[in-house]
Amino acid sequence: MRRTTPVAITTACRTASLVCSKTFHKDYVVRGRAETDANLICRGFHLQPQCRQIHACTYKYERFHAKYNKCSQHTLGRMFSSSNIHCYSTKPADVNPLLKHLQRRIKMAGPITVADYMKEVLTNSVSGYYMNRDVFGAAGDFITSPEISQMFGEVFGVWVVNEWLNHYDNQQIQIVELGPGRGTLADDMLRVFSQFPAIKDKISVHLVEVSPALSRMQAAKVTGRDISDIDDKFVDTAELRAEPYQQLPSKYGPLVSWYRSLADVPHGLSCYVAHEFLDALPIHKFHKTEHGWREVLVDVDAANDSLRFVLAPGPTPASVAYLKSVQSSEKTNVEICPSAGLIVQEICQRIGQHGGLSLLADYGHTGEKGGTFRAFKNHALHDPLVDPGTADLTADVDFSYLKNMVSDNDGVSVFGPITQARFLSNMGIGLRLQTLLQNASQDHWSDLVSGYKMLTSPEQMGERFKFMSILPKLRDAYVPAGFVDLDFNVVSDRQSK
Ligand SMILES: C[S@@+](CC[C@H](N)C(=O)[O-])C[C@H]1O[C@@H](n2cnc3c(N)ncnc32)[C@H](O)[C@@H]1O
Repeated sequence: MRRTTPVAITTACRTASLVCSKTFHKDYVVRGRAETDANLICRGFHLQPQCRQIHACTYKYERFHAKYNKCSQHTLGRMFSSSNIHCYSTKPADVNPLLKHLQRRIKMAGPITVADYMKEVLTNSVSGYYMNRDVFGAAGDFITSPEISQMFGEVFGVWVVNEWLNHYDNQQIQIVELGPGRGTLADDMLRVFSQFPAIKDKISVHLVEVSPALSRMQAAKVTGRDISDIDDKFVDTAELRAEPYQQLPSKYGPLVSWYRSLADVPHGLSCYVAHEFLDALPIHKFHKTEHGWREVLVDVDAANDSLRFVLAPGPTPASVAYLKSVQSSEKTNVEICPSAGLIVQEICQRIGQHGGLSLLADYGHTGEKGGTFRAFKNHALHDPLVDPGTADLTADVDFSYLKNMVSDNDGVSVFGPITQARFLSNMGIGLRLQTLLQNASQDHWSDLVSGYKMLTSPEQMGERFKFMSILPKLRDAYVPAGFVDLDFNVVSDRQSK
């Protein structure tokens, strides 16, 4: 914990509350009904009953690791095709095209890393989980904060306006969202921007989305058009290679562009936001054995063709590359997400070169957790190896790993992570709730209150979800809004780089 000067705290807080009270809170713009039914699961919760099954599986492969390690050091492919390796097997899954593809791949080339498995399952261009359908809400598999309450996206929007006013007033800025889902967060932010004359003509929106189906939903949301009116070309995968692969004016005016990867987004002054994006990126899993750390791989069980976890018999390229920092860890399971690290590095380099800001929110920890890889289907935990492509895969974000990815040469400061409850409360979500309640119908009143509770209560999403911000190295004591507690005394963890 570091303390900053009262002057810096006052400036940051005063600006945020000024922005909020002057325009934001006085306009009663109400989005449609939130989906806050208690039976919708947010992926930030786990240890539901089904989770015990997954922990039991982990225990099984722990017990068997000695057996794998007795095997001689062949290539991974030969090693793991060997039928004398036994470990936890999942139930035989219904055959599906992605399962067939994975089985073929593994039988030909040997077990694959959990990272390769996650990438195939989530974003395989033909049958990846995210690629072809809406996965959110009551009819989907899980619910996210922007879908729970309009207040969440509004707070993001106000944060952007506040920081833009403080540092880049009057300059054109790109709002870049990574993994926008249904486009709800972008839409709520655009609505906030539309109420601030100073910024509304200064922004363009850039969405980084790999899923053709979700891109189309985002287009419908931000343009206000029916999804059937969104040009089919939008989902043409050949088009996805173009940069950007689509552009449309939003219903609020600013132009929205879609890209497949952050690398395609033009450089320039930008604000990078992401919510529940980093947790969907592929992780490598490692397990500590009496012979040292071993990478967890996904193999086909020769007995019944189902998928199973096995441990690599010796070092793998990923264990050599990524495990250095955890050799002395007390943990027995470690998950590392190099893709998230690369994204954070790219954001830092861009901010260092062109200016800008970033707000990243996800469920996660600061290095203390290990076995968080899990799957969700129909609002319940699901075996991640059964029926690949029909359930979401996710792992908690290790924010300490992300902070270590930031280089001293990037010229940026990293703030947080702090809990969602603290961030939202520091940003004045309580005030926003009160304002919305004044004009709410009975139904909408209970939606707003239950949404607020779900987002902020420690037992629900308030503690497990964290916010981290990246800014250029500015005035030494500057702390961005939301990262300053309202008692004006304590600031969140702050790391200068
Ligand atoms: C869990 S959803 C979160 C959606 C949204 N941010 C929300 O909070 O409701 C993950 C999003 O990231 C997208 N995504 C996953 N992997 C991606 C990748 N490698 N590149 C770009 N988008 C990706 C998915 O298609 C989806 O839109």
